[in-house]
Amino acid sequence: MKLVRLLANLGYGSRKQAVALCRQGRVTDAAGEVLYADDKVDPAEVRVDGEPLDPPQGLVLMLHKPVGHTCSTKDPGRVVYDLLPPRFRLRNPAISPVGRLDRDTSGLLLMTDDGALLHRIVSPKSAIPKVYEAGLAQDLRGDEAALFASGTLLLESEDTPLLPAEMETLGPRRARLTLHEGRYHQVRRMFAATGNRVVSLHRSRIGGLALGDLPEGRWRALAPAELDSLFGAASR
Ligand code: URA
Repeated sequence: MKLVRLLANLGYGSRKQAVALCRQGRVTDAAGEVLYADDKVDPAEVRVDGEPLDPPQGLVLMLHKPVGHTCSTKDPGRVVYDLLPPRFRLRNPAISPVGRLDRDTSGLLLMTDDGALLHRIVSPKSAIPKVYEAGLAQDLRGDEAALFASGTLLLESEDTPLLPAEMETLGPRRARLTLHEGRYHQVRRMFAATGNRVVSLHRSRIGGLALGDLPEGRWRALAPAELDSLFGAASR
């Protein structure tokens, strides 16, 4: 790909601004040789002001989403894009969240510019398990795990029952849920169906991927092997 297009697609500026960056001699190869806007380049070899380029197209990143940020570009409040380098908003193709977490949910959020991969991850066919830890307003009744595992729970205003989900009790008002689908506000609505209320919600795992020690508000790019662990043996 020509350097100017690469730089523009990665959000380093408009094509005009990318040409200007090159003219200023700020874009070089790894050995420090100045590159020209029309050069055909390997992204791994390009430096801007001596720094390697942002990850090229095909980026998949994990973000430790804090409470208070929405997974939207339009929300007037805080959005998950505020936690990424500002250039990332200008990339083409755009980086989008893979599914959503509510504003009041924290934890593991994947984002990618790979549309096909995004659809594969969210597709019901992939049935990638997602693990949530919920804090509750009231003590668990004791029958929730059986109800959630039954495959018969019908959420309000829906006509298909939920797929069986696993629940582990972590305390009188704490539970870990593993879901195999992603419906709107699913965890909150599941507990609402038992007369309870979720007061805190955190997603710790998607497939074989966990947040690990990634601090809240931080992101990192995923390595290809981590993507394999996302899908696991069942859906490959
Ligand atoms: N279920 C919810 O209720 N909210 C989320 O953000 C994710 C799952």
